[in-house]
Amino acid sequence: MPSALDLLRAAVVASGVTAAAAADAQEPAWLANLLRQDCGSCHGLTMRGGLGAPLLPERLAGKPDEALAGLILDGLPGTAMPPWRGILSEADALWMVRQLKQGIGP
Ligand code: HEC
Repeated sequence: MPSALDLLRAAVVASGVTAAAAADAQEPAWLANLLRQDCGSCHGLTMRGGLGAPLLPERLAGKPDEALAGLILDGLPGTAMPPWRGILSEADALWMVRQLKQGIGP
């Protein structure tokens, strides 16, 4: 007879695995599109800047992934940078940050 704690642990492990599997299975094509089209509408199609700051690897290099992802999810109050929470999950935002840090090129 497993204890309540064992069951809880099993549930936590199972949900962690499910979340990781979902993130891996996710087709990022729509995300890549959104990054180029929607983010690009302000930051430039090649992320060299426009209304929003350039999002080039050399400019983002010193900033922690989690901080940038949080900024994407919550937006930057007082600027045109909108919050994306609800459209993007944390995993989505982190994926974008990693793409931007690699450079998404022309
Ligand atoms: C409506 C215009 C607009 C859209 C759309 C937009 N941004 Fe922004 N973004 C801005 C502005 C304005 C800033 C602040 C720029 C500044 O500090 O000069 C900003 C800032 C940022 C920063 C911080 C840059 C830094 O140097 O710290 C990141 C990262 C960022 N945006 C990512 C994104 C991503 C990813 C998307 C798409 C999911 C996106 N933005 C969509 C306008 C936009």
